[in-house]
This record gives sequence, C-alpha cells and structure tokens, in this order.
Amino acid sequence: MNETSSEAKRATVGPPSVLAYLDPNYWNDRFTSEDHYEWLKDYSHFRHLIQQHITPTSSVLELGCGNSQLCDELYKEGITNLTCIDLSSVAVLKMQARLLSKGYKDIKVLEGDMLNLSFADESFDVVIEKGTMDVLFVDSGDPWNPRPEAVKRAMAMLQGVHRVLKPHGIFISIAFGQPHFRRPLFSSPEFTWSIEYATFGDGFHYFFYILRKGQKSSSSDAADVKKVETPSLRLYQDELEDEDYLFRTNIDEMGDDR
Ligand SMILES: C[S@@+](CC[C@H](N)C(=O)[O-])C[C@H]1O[C@@H](n2cnc3c(N)ncnc32)[C@H](O)[C@@H]1O
Repeated sequence: MNETSSEAKRATVGPPSVLAYLDPNYWNDRFTSEDHYEWLKDYSHFRHLIQQHITPTSSVLELGCGNSQLCDELYKEGITNLTCIDLSSVAVLKMQARLLSKGYKDIKVLEGDMLNLSFADESFDVVIEKGTMDVLFVDSGDPWNPRPEAVKRAMAMLQGVHRVLKPHGIFISIAFGQPHFRRPLFSSPEFTWSIEYATFGDGFHYFFYILRKGQKSSSSDAADVKKVETPSLRLYQDELEDEDYLFRTNIDEMGDDR
C-alpha cells in the first residue's frame, strides 16, 4: 500500500495512531459506543479447528474478550465453565450485561490484565485469545527484530498463560501474527508446550496456534515448523475489514517483503 492510500485509510478507520491499541482509555472510549466488532473472523470460520481441543468439561479462560461473541458461541457448544477477562472496564460491564440478557449466567467476565494474570497456577484446561496478543506488537517496529518492550510484554503474557494452564492444558492463539515471528517467543526454553499451527481464511491466512503444555518434544524446534507461504498482504487489502487491515499492517507487514 502506498503512503497516500495508507494515510487515507488511517484517517477514516481506527484510531489516529495504532499506539492507541495499547491504551486502556482508547478501548474504554471505543466500547462505550461500540456493541460488537469481531476481530479477525467470527467463530464459524475456525469452529472446525477449535472443536478438536475444547469439550463441554473444559475450563476455559478467554483473554481480551472485548465485545466479541466468541464466548457466546463456545457457550452454545455446551462449554459453560468459561471465564473472560479484559483490561477495559467498559467492555467487562457491557459483556456482563449482554450475557445476562441472553441467560448465559455461568460465564464469568472479569476486569483483568493478561500481562499480570491473577488466577492460581494450573487453573484452566484451555486459555484462548483472538487478536489480543497481536495488540502487543503494534509498536514492535521491525518484526524480525522487535523492540525489547514488545518482547517483554509478550513474554509476560505467555509466562502467565503457561502458569495458569493445567499440566496438559492448551493455549489457543488466533492471530494475524505469522509463525516466523511468533515462534521465537512460543519456543522460549522456559515453556514446556509443543507448538503447532493451522491456518484458516479463504484468501488471506489467519493463524490458529495450538500450544500443548507438557508436550514439548526434542523435535519441537524451528526446523520442525510447517512452513506456510503467506503472499504479500497487499493482495488482501480489499479482503480485510478496513481496521483489521491497518492493524495487521502494523503488526508484521514488513516481514512479507523479506
Ligand atoms: C483487538 S481486540 C480483540 C477483541 C476480541 N478478542 C475479538 O476477537 O474481537 C483486543 C482486546 O484486548 C483487550 N486488551 C488489550 N490489552 C489487554 C491486556 N493487557 N489484558 C487484557 N485485555 C487487553 C482490549 O481491551 C480489547 O478488548
């Protein structure tokens, strides 16, 4: 995308600077007037991937629920032991009200920071996030060599997720972030999880990472990762929602050109 069209899009969608995505006030303001925005894709697009990993007896933690309907969809599948957190108090209040109005009163919605999870060790069978980890990279600079602050945030998140997962728990990360950028973080030696991913989406690829705690094998090395060719993001400018396009561009488009 050339500079002019990028700036034009930025002026009409999303915040004036992508740094706003790191600011809780931005999300509070946004959720005050917005009732539903589904980042990446809705549940129907990755249901087939999730179903292999979550059962009605699973205890599930969703990070950064926003005003997504992912937890509604999981609930409809019979998964009732669900806890959602978000940094935004407005998102939490609105989500609580929406779920109560639907009669989904078992779902817990709490204000919380995924960089400092308040849950006890080994509390959940599954931790899931969609588009929330991506937020941590909006100011990461060169994705091949992300700024230390972005790496620090991402590692704080992953350490918390690893800690609150049960011994054979699963972390599901549904993301724009590409495997060659996520892999160095996921595969830090302190983590015992195995790493796999699938993709979904018709033209543009979204990534569905599955990290299984306690399942790391000696072969879970970089060389073992299935390589997915992701054509330049420019091809998909018209396919992505305007704001998703801007968000995705800032996360790791620089990587597409190498
Ligand atoms: C890109 S939106 C994704 C929302 C939702 N998961 C979806 O798929 O539509 C990011 C969400 O993460 C929340 N968020 C940002 N930083 C967070 C943090 N440190 N802890 C918890 N939630 C956070 C924001 O308030 C926002 O709701």
